[in-house]
Amino acid sequence: MTIPIDVLPSVEEFPDPFAPASGDRIATPADWPERRRQIRDLLLFYEYGHLPPPPANLRSELLSSLSFPEGRAVEERVLLSCGPEDRVSISLSLLRPAQASRPCPVVLTGDLCWGPAPAAGEVVRRGYALAQFDRTEVAPDAPGRDTGVYPLYPGYDWGALAAWAWGYHRVVDYLTTRLDVDPNRIAVTGHSRGGKAALLAGALDDRIALTTPNDSGCGGAGSFRHQGPGSESLDTITTVFPYWFHPRLRDFVGREDRLPFDQHFLLALVAPRALLTTNALGDLWANPEGSQQTYLAAKQVFAFLGAGTRIGNHYREGGHEHNADDWNTLLDFADGQFQGRSVMGHFDGRPFSGRATAFSWTAPIPPNG
Ligand code: GCU
Repeated sequence: MTIPIDVLPSVEEFPDPFAPASGDRIATPADWPERRRQIRDLLLFYEYGHLPPPPANLRSELLSSLSFPEGRAVEERVLLSCGPEDRVSISLSLLRPAQASRPCPVVLTGDLCWGPAPAAGEVVRRGYALAQFDRTEVAPDAPGRDTGVYPLYPGYDWGALAAWAWGYHRVVDYLTTRLDVDPNRIAVTGHSRGGKAALLAGALDDRIALTTPNDSGCGGAGSFRHQGPGSESLDTITTVFPYWFHPRLRDFVGREDRLPFDQHFLLALVAPRALLTTNALGDLWANPEGSQQTYLAAKQVFAFLGAGTRIGNHYREGGHEHNADDWNTLLDFADGQFQGRSVMGHFDGRPFSGRATAFSWTAPIPPNG
């Protein structure tokens, strides 16, 4: 698994997620949990770094509670603390329907650092709670490891994306303690670098039922090997934002063929839980074309696990933003997944038809399959 880069084989196409580094290709869904562990280990070792285990001392303090017009929604501000000497703190805003008759699904975003979500009213109108925190409270979006969680966990080699994903997990710890939130219907989202973090969070945590990164691009749902025109490269991202990743990732610059994974491995970790990637056709930097390729590759894993209707990919016109349309798309998909409504036809976005597929393998057909 953790083989030095010079010894890793060159693989021009997307690596086969069903093929371990040594031994036979896996054959049945029963083989997947072990293969999934290997894939997770690869991604953490080479790309993101390792996350500390969940702290056992999570505490919450209600700071304020505010009712919104006509009593339809309540916003609570909650301060979470955990970790060594209780020194990790996360301020959470939880907006929820005031009169839900049963525990409600929740959408969680860590992008409060960029301002509140544009669709809060719609989220609540549709019966969801909206949980928002500022991931940069957990780890700064800047180089340097003197602040945030880094000094609290000195033995860990995590970059900022992993630290932010860990922050999502701590909020999930809290959400699962609330009686008014359905622990089986937790969705995570985030935009761009926040989308990369949300995707990693969803990939690593089975409590998250739906993962929906938006315009997450390089290091998210975009591919390193298959780069559409104008898309961000491994070289650029690890030059400008080295602290998002494990330093080892930069060793693959110019040798992307030696990556023992591509980003479809990250998407595949979500399976068989639900995954929706949302993209913008004009956001070339985020590699909408490469995201179609990772989607198609990961779909093989979802289908193999009998979860072919749990993965979606969506494109809208326009550029790099997480706008109300993206949120509506997320909610439509979530409604389908959480309420058993079939809306899947709308979520099989593949506008880049005519491009060769970035992989030649297909899912194994299980015996008797
Ligand atoms: C930069 C970076 C992207 C990132 C984006 C964002 O453009 O190169 O990888 O997704 O910032 O977070 O908005």
